[in-house]
Amino acid sequence: MLFTSIINLTYLIGALGFVMGLRRLSSPDTARRGNILAGIGMSMAIIATMVYPFAGANNNYPWIIGGMLLGGIIGWVAAKKVQMTAMPQMVSIFNGLGGACAVVLAMVELVHYYGGTQAMSAGQLFIVLLALLIGGVSFTGSMLAYGKLEGLVNDKKVTFPRHNILNIGILIITVILGGYIQITGTGTTFGLVIIFMLLSLVYGLSFVAPIGGADMPVVISLLNSFTGLSAAATGLIYDNQIMLVGGILVGASGTILTVLMCQAMNRSLLNVLIGGFGSTQTSSKGAVGDQIAKEVSLNDAAIQMYYSKSVMIVPGYGLAVAQAQKICKELDDLLESNGVDVKYAIHPVAGRMPGHMNVLLAEADVPYPKLLDLEDANAVLPSTDIVLIVGANDVVNPAANDDPGSPIYGMPVLNVWEAKNVIVLKRSMNPGYAGIQNQLFFHERTRMLFGDAKDSIQNLVGEVKSL
Ligand code: TAP
Repeated sequence: MLFTSIINLTYLIGALGFVMGLRRLSSPDTARRGNILAGIGMSMAIIATMVYPFAGANNNYPWIIGGMLLGGIIGWVAAKKVQMTAMPQMVSIFNGLGGACAVVLAMVELVHYYGGTQAMSAGQLFIVLLALLIGGVSFTGSMLAYGKLEGLVNDKKVTFPRHNILNIGILIITVILGGYIQITGTGTTFGLVIIFMLLSLVYGLSFVAPIGGADMPVVISLLNSFTGLSAAATGLIYDNQIMLVGGILVGASGTILTVLMCQAMNRSLLNVLIGGFGSTQTSSKGAVGDQIAKEVSLNDAAIQMYYSKSVMIVPGYGLAVAQAQKICKELDDLLESNGVDVKYAIHPVAGRMPGHMNVLLAEADVPYPKLLDLEDANAVLPSTDIVLIVGANDVVNPAANDDPGSPIYGMPVLNVWEAKNVIVLKRSMNPGYAGIQNQLFFHERTRMLFGDAKDSIQNLVGEVKSL
């Protein structure tokens, strides 16, 4: 009795660690501590579960410890090696494995139930089937999302005509089969349970297949919330509070993140799930159709920035691709040393994952107060001398404000064209994620500096040093 109370108390403290950790993740200043706090909560939960009376039964410890060591080593090495640009892929794999765990746990319970070694109430059977369904969708869906993000899977090759109707069909058949298993209980064969599991796995693939590769961060966040729900369902099966609390937290935060991402892009979740956003349209350097963008020389760009009063750096996905954050900070320091006020305008969906730019700039030790959010940046842009766009495109596209026919119309953007001068660093006139051209590049106050962002900034640093 006392032992159980101690375990439950440890779970409670562990859950508090999750909540407090999550709270601290909302600011880059406190995120590192938040992560450590949540890690401590998780360690407490694991230790409490390890000493639970059933854990050592049937000589389980070697399996548990072996699994923890193997998983821990793989996770450690993967986290150490992963590039910042590949972070969504890693989240996707880890998330998928969480879903796979729910599938395995649910299947173990069902094997015992159908083997007659364990009874289950109708409510328990429902939860087990739910965990199996959600975990299965999350597992294969996340794996396909990983394949798309990594460029291993071609979007067009995995979709069929009328794919969304096919999806609805698979879902309906799966739910009807689940309902039948629920009603008949052990009166039906285990083979049907296997078919139910396979259908859940197929639905996960089919659900993610039509969604555009670049929409994957939103899908991963949604699948993440699914995994949380499946973990919460498994917590109910085992009457384990920490699994329940942890699962609900993951489910709720994944859902909130999904909604926030959709809002920041001004798109509905349905629009993301049905797919079709983005294209691979390309254009030659410097010109699109008969429109020609004006270029600036390195020397002119360096002089303009060095002798200005204020520079606003607008980072985008290209900063991440080029890994230009550290050299960007070096340029910032040089300009500041000449009295230039340098700030960064951070759009909420710049890059490919939430907080992408914040993480990169924090890695380069850019002080947090220098980062302005969308509203604050828009307020100071009209009085800014130079805007330096580093690999951003959609988040500075005026079509979002003035072209009702544009797919990004209504998305809040950084009004960089209101600044006195705009310098754009990118490699070509190719569009960004939304696959649409950007009139900003032809604006009278805009000048293009073509090249890889890291090389261009490196050269700018050289020019500034020579002034
Ligand atoms: P994008 O619109 O995708 O544009 C990135 C630009 O970077 C491209 O036009 C590309 O042009 C340039 N670029 C790529 N590599 C470069 C390099 N090495 N050096 C210099 N430039 C390089 O990026 P954004 O403005 O950050 O907008 C993000 C987009 O992603 C939005 O449409 C947003 O809705 C979407 N999205 C974001 C998220 C989150 S949570 N952040 C999630 C899902 C979708 P070149 O090829 O010509 O160089």
